[in-house]
Amino acid sequence: MVDEGALAILTAAGSGTRLGRDLPKALVDLAGFPLVVHAARRLAASGVVDSLVVTCPAGLDSAVRDVVAQDPHVDVPVRVVEGGGTRQASVAAGLALAGPDDDVVLVHDAARPLAPPRLVRRVVDAVRAGHGAVVPGLPVTDTVKRVAPASAGGGPDVERVVETPDRAVLRAVQTPQGFDRALLQRAHAQGAGRATAEGSAATDDAGLVEALGEPAYVVTGEEAAMKITTERDLQVAALLLEEKS
Ligand code: CTP
Ligand code: MG
Repeated sequence: MVDEGALAILTAAGSGTRLGRDLPKALVDLAGFPLVVHAARRLAASGVVDSLVVTCPAGLDSAVRDVVAQDPHVDVPVRVVEGGGTRQASVAAGLALAGPDDDVVLVHDAARPLAPPRLVRRVVDAVRAGHGAVVPGLPVTDTVKRVAPASAGGGPDVERVVETPDRAVLRAVQTPQGFDRALLQRAHAQGAGRATAEGSAATDDAGLVEALGEPAYVVTGEEAAMKITTERDLQVAALLLEEKS
Protein backbone atom coordinates (compact mmCIF):
# COMPACT_ATOMS: atom_id res chain seq x y z
CA MET A 1 0.00 0.00 0.00
CA VAL A 2 1.30 3.43 -0.93
CA ASP A 3 0.89 6.08 1.73
CA GLU A 4 -1.60 8.68 0.52
CA GLY A 5 -1.96 12.15 1.85
CA ALA A 6 -3.18 15.58 0.85
CA LEU A 7 -1.05 18.63 1.51
CA ALA A 8 -2.73 22.03 1.43
CA ILE A 9 -0.71 25.12 0.55
CA LEU A 10 -2.51 28.10 2.06
CA THR A 11 -1.33 31.30 0.39
CA ALA A 12 -1.19 34.17 2.87
CA ALA A 13 1.90 36.11 1.77
CA GLY A 14 0.15 38.95 -0.04
CA SER A 15 0.10 42.49 1.30
CA GLY A 16 -3.56 43.27 0.71
CA THR A 17 -2.93 46.54 -1.08
CA ARG A 18 -6.50 46.88 -2.32
CA LEU A 19 -7.89 46.34 1.18
CA GLY A 20 -5.57 49.11 2.32
CA ARG A 21 -5.17 48.10 5.99
CA ASP A 22 -1.92 48.52 7.90
CA LEU A 23 -1.46 44.74 8.16
CA PRO A 24 -1.38 41.95 5.55
CA LYS A 25 -4.83 40.84 4.36
CA ALA A 26 -4.47 37.29 5.74
CA LEU A 27 -4.13 38.73 9.26
CA VAL A 28 -7.16 41.02 9.00
CA ASP A 29 -9.95 40.17 11.43
CA LEU A 30 -13.28 38.66 10.42
CA ALA A 31 -15.70 38.04 13.31
CA GLY A 32 -12.89 37.71 15.84
CA PHE A 33 -10.34 35.66 13.88
CA PRO A 34 -7.79 36.43 11.15
CA LEU A 35 -8.78 35.41 7.60
CA VAL A 36 -5.95 32.85 7.47
CA VAL A 37 -7.32 31.11 10.58
CA HIS A 38 -10.82 30.87 9.08
CA ALA A 39 -9.34 29.32 5.93
CA ALA A 40 -7.10 26.89 7.84
CA ARG A 41 -9.99 25.74 10.06
CA ARG A 42 -12.15 24.85 7.07
CA LEU A 43 -9.32 22.98 5.35
CA ALA A 44 -8.73 20.98 8.54
CA ALA A 45 -12.46 20.38 9.07
CA SER A 46 -12.74 18.76 5.64
CA GLY A 47 -11.11 15.64 7.08
CA VAL A 48 -9.19 15.13 3.83
CA VAL A 49 -6.23 17.44 4.44
CA ASP A 50 -3.28 15.82 6.21
CA SER A 51 -1.01 18.82 6.62
CA LEU A 52 -0.82 22.53 5.92
CA VAL A 53 1.91 24.77 4.55
CA VAL A 54 1.12 28.45 5.02
CA THR A 55 2.97 31.05 2.94
CA CYS A 56 3.54 34.24 4.93
CA PRO A 57 4.85 37.76 4.32
CA ALA A 58 8.57 38.34 5.03
CA GLY A 59 9.30 38.61 8.74
CA LEU A 60 5.88 37.39 9.84
CA ASP A 61 6.54 33.64 10.09
CA SER A 62 6.21 33.44 13.85
CA ALA A 63 3.11 35.67 13.93
CA VAL A 64 1.41 33.49 11.31
CA ARG A 65 2.59 30.25 12.95
CA ASP A 66 1.21 31.39 16.32
CA VAL A 67 -2.27 32.20 15.07
CA VAL A 68 -2.67 29.16 12.80
CA ALA A 69 -0.84 26.34 14.57
CA GLN A 70 -2.16 27.26 18.01
CA ASP A 71 -5.78 27.38 16.93
CA PRO A 72 -7.54 24.39 18.53
CA HIS A 73 -9.64 23.83 15.40
CA VAL A 74 -6.58 23.45 13.19
CA ASP A 75 -5.80 19.88 14.18
CA VAL A 76 -3.33 19.03 11.42
CA PRO A 77 0.45 19.70 11.30
CA VAL A 78 1.25 23.25 10.18
CA ARG A 79 4.44 24.52 8.57
CA VAL A 80 5.05 28.16 7.66
CA VAL A 81 7.26 29.35 4.82
CA GLU A 82 8.06 32.86 3.60
CA GLY A 83 6.30 33.60 0.32
CA GLY A 84 7.71 35.35 -2.74
CA GLY A 85 7.02 38.52 -4.66
CA THR A 86 4.09 37.04 -6.60
CA ARG A 87 1.39 34.54 -5.73
CA GLN A 88 3.01 32.07 -8.14
CA ALA A 89 6.37 32.42 -6.35
CA SER A 90 4.65 31.94 -2.98
CA VAL A 91 2.95 28.74 -4.14
CA ALA A 92 6.29 27.49 -5.48
CA ALA A 93 7.89 28.11 -2.06
CA GLY A 94 5.14 26.07 -0.41
CA LEU A 95 5.32 23.35 -3.03
CA ALA A 96 9.03 22.91 -2.31
CA LEU A 97 7.96 21.37 1.03
CA ALA A 98 5.74 18.70 -0.57
CA GLY A 99 7.03 15.17 -0.16
CA PRO A 100 6.53 11.86 -1.93
CA ASP A 101 3.69 10.91 0.46
CA ASP A 102 1.65 13.93 -0.61
CA ASP A 103 -0.15 12.43 -3.58
CA VAL A 104 -2.61 15.34 -3.74
CA VAL A 105 -1.69 19.01 -3.34
CA LEU A 106 -4.34 21.67 -2.77
CA VAL A 107 -3.65 25.36 -3.27
CA HIS A 108 -5.98 27.67 -1.38
CA ASP A 109 -6.06 31.43 -0.81
CA ALA A 110 -6.37 32.84 2.69
CA ALA A 111 -8.29 35.56 0.83
CA ARG A 112 -11.14 32.99 0.51
CA PRO A 113 -11.61 32.36 4.25
CA LEU A 114 -15.10 30.81 4.10
CA ALA A 115 -14.56 28.10 1.45
CA PRO A 116 -16.59 25.30 3.06
CA PRO A 117 -15.17 21.89 4.03
CA ARG A 118 -17.51 20.16 1.56
CA LEU A 119 -15.87 22.11 -1.28
CA VAL A 120 -12.44 20.91 -0.14
CA ARG A 121 -13.75 17.32 -0.20
CA ARG A 122 -15.35 17.80 -3.62
CA VAL A 123 -12.03 18.95 -5.08
CA VAL A 124 -9.94 16.20 -3.45
CA ASP A 125 -12.46 13.53 -4.50
CA ALA A 126 -12.22 14.66 -8.12
CA VAL A 127 -8.41 14.55 -8.03
CA ARG A 128 -8.45 11.06 -6.47
CA ALA A 129 -10.94 9.99 -9.17
CA GLY A 130 -8.18 10.63 -11.71
CA HIS A 131 -8.49 14.30 -12.66
CA GLY A 132 -4.97 15.73 -12.34
CA ALA A 133 -6.01 19.38 -12.04
CA VAL A 134 -9.35 20.42 -10.51
CA VAL A 135 -10.76 23.89 -9.92
CA PRO A 136 -14.09 24.95 -8.38
CA GLY A 137 -16.08 27.25 -10.64
CA LEU A 138 -19.45 28.98 -10.79
CA PRO A 139 -21.43 30.20 -13.82
CA VAL A 140 -20.91 33.89 -14.47
CA THR A 141 -23.96 36.11 -14.18
CA ASP A 142 -22.53 39.12 -16.01
CA THR A 143 -21.95 39.12 -19.74
CA VAL A 144 -18.16 39.25 -20.22
CA LYS A 145 -16.38 41.11 -23.05
CA ARG A 146 -12.80 40.68 -24.21
CA VAL A 147 -11.28 44.10 -24.89
CA ALA A 148 -8.20 45.71 -26.42
CA PRO A 149 -6.90 49.29 -26.26
CA ALA A 150 -9.01 51.60 -28.41
CA SER A 151 -7.27 53.09 -31.43
CA ALA A 152 -5.82 56.60 -31.09
CA GLY A 153 -8.46 59.20 -30.36
CA GLY A 154 -10.68 56.80 -28.45
CA GLY A 155 -10.24 58.70 -25.21
CA PRO A 156 -8.56 57.53 -22.00
CA ASP A 157 -11.50 55.50 -20.67
CA VAL A 158 -12.52 53.81 -23.89
CA GLU A 159 -11.58 50.26 -24.87
CA ARG A 160 -12.48 48.34 -28.00
CA VAL A 161 -14.57 45.16 -27.69
CA VAL A 162 -12.84 42.24 -29.37
CA GLU A 163 -15.41 39.54 -28.66
CA THR A 164 -18.31 38.49 -26.45
CA PRO A 165 -17.81 34.88 -25.38
CA ASP A 166 -20.91 32.75 -24.84
CA ARG A 167 -21.65 33.20 -21.13
CA ALA A 168 -23.04 29.69 -20.82
CA VAL A 169 -19.58 28.17 -21.23
CA LEU A 170 -17.77 30.55 -18.84
CA ARG A 171 -16.94 29.76 -15.20
CA ALA A 172 -15.56 32.08 -12.53
CA VAL A 173 -13.00 29.95 -10.71
CA GLN A 174 -12.16 29.80 -7.05
CA THR A 175 -9.85 27.98 -4.69
CA PRO A 176 -9.06 25.44 -3.31
CA GLN A 177 -7.65 24.05 -6.54
CA GLY A 178 -6.44 20.44 -6.35
CA PHE A 179 -3.68 18.63 -8.20
CA ASP A 180 -1.77 15.47 -8.63
CA ARG A 181 1.47 16.51 -6.90
CA ALA A 182 3.85 15.53 -9.69
CA LEU A 183 1.74 17.37 -12.28
CA LEU A 184 1.68 20.58 -10.21
CA GLN A 185 5.44 20.36 -9.66
CA ARG A 186 5.98 20.01 -13.41
CA ALA A 187 3.64 22.95 -14.09
CA HIS A 188 5.45 25.19 -11.60
CA ALA A 189 8.87 24.21 -12.89
CA GLN A 190 7.85 25.28 -16.39
CA GLY A 191 5.91 28.31 -15.12
CA ALA A 192 8.95 29.62 -13.23
CA GLY A 193 10.93 29.78 -16.47
CA ARG A 194 8.10 31.53 -18.27
CA ALA A 195 7.50 34.08 -15.48
CA THR A 196 11.19 35.03 -15.58
CA ALA A 197 11.27 35.21 -19.36
CA GLU A 198 8.08 37.22 -19.79
CA GLY A 199 8.03 39.12 -16.51
CA SER A 200 4.53 37.84 -15.77
CA ALA A 201 3.30 35.34 -13.20
CA ALA A 202 0.18 33.19 -13.19
CA THR A 203 -2.73 34.20 -10.96
CA ASP A 204 -4.06 30.64 -10.86
CA ASP A 205 -2.33 27.27 -10.63
CA ALA A 206 -4.59 25.43 -13.04
CA GLY A 207 -3.45 27.96 -15.66
CA LEU A 208 0.09 26.64 -15.30
CA VAL A 209 -1.16 23.09 -15.87
CA GLU A 210 -3.10 24.24 -18.95
CA ALA A 211 0.09 25.88 -20.26
CA LEU A 212 1.71 22.44 -20.16
CA GLY A 213 -1.02 21.21 -22.50
CA GLU A 214 -2.50 19.01 -19.76
CA PRO A 215 -6.26 18.98 -19.07
CA ALA A 216 -7.83 20.78 -16.13
CA TYR A 217 -11.37 20.17 -14.83
CA VAL A 218 -14.04 22.27 -13.12
CA VAL A 219 -16.23 21.08 -10.25
CA THR A 220 -19.12 23.13 -8.86
CA GLY A 221 -17.90 25.97 -6.67
CA GLU A 222 -19.55 27.63 -3.68
CA GLU A 223 -20.75 31.21 -3.12
CA ALA A 224 -19.08 31.09 0.29
CA ALA A 225 -15.69 30.60 -1.38
CA MET A 226 -15.86 34.27 -2.46
CA LYS A 227 -12.60 36.20 -2.51
CA ILE A 228 -11.99 39.11 -0.21
CA THR A 229 -10.39 42.00 -2.03
CA THR A 230 -12.09 45.13 -0.68
CA GLU A 231 -13.72 46.35 2.56
CA ARG A 232 -17.11 45.64 1.02
CA ASP A 233 -16.13 41.99 0.46
CA LEU A 234 -15.25 41.76 4.17
CA GLN A 235 -18.72 43.03 5.03
CA VAL A 236 -20.32 40.46 2.72
CA ALA A 237 -18.23 37.70 4.35
CA ALA A 238 -19.36 38.86 7.81
CA LEU A 239 -22.98 38.62 6.62
CA LEU A 240 -22.43 35.11 5.27
CA LEU A 241 -21.01 34.06 8.66
CA GLU A 242 -24.00 35.58 10.47
CA GLU A 243 -26.41 33.76 8.17
CA LYS A 244 -24.81 30.46 9.11
CA SER A 245 -25.00 30.96 12.87
N1 CTP B 1 -0.40 35.86 -2.16
C1 CTP B 1 0.79 35.26 -1.75
N2 CTP B 1 1.98 35.81 -2.15
C2 CTP B 1 2.01 36.92 -2.91
C3 CTP B 1 0.81 37.53 -3.34
C4 CTP B 1 -0.40 36.97 -2.94
O1 CTP B 1 0.78 34.26 -1.04
N3 CTP B 1 3.19 37.43 -3.25
C5 CTP B 1 -1.68 35.29 -1.70
C6 CTP B 1 -2.50 36.28 -0.87
O2 CTP B 1 -2.08 36.26 0.48
C7 CTP B 1 -3.91 35.80 -1.09
C8 CTP B 1 -3.86 35.10 -2.45
O3 CTP B 1 -2.48 34.97 -2.80
O4 CTP B 1 -4.33 34.85 -0.13
C9 CTP B 1 -4.62 35.87 -3.52
O5 CTP B 1 -4.02 37.13 -3.72
P1 CTP B 1 -4.76 38.54 -3.59
O6 CTP B 1 -6.21 38.35 -3.29
O7 CTP B 1 -4.33 39.37 -4.73
O8 CTP B 1 -4.14 39.11 -2.21
P2 CTP B 1 -3.08 40.26 -2.02
O9 CTP B 1 -2.02 40.16 -3.05
O10 CTP B 1 -2.67 40.22 -0.59
O11 CTP B 1 -3.99 41.56 -2.23
P3 CTP B 1 -3.65 42.81 -3.19
O12 CTP B 1 -3.49 42.24 -4.58
O13 CTP B 1 -4.83 43.72 -3.02
O14 CTP B 1 -2.37 43.41 -2.66
MG1 MG C 1 -2.52 40.40 -5.18
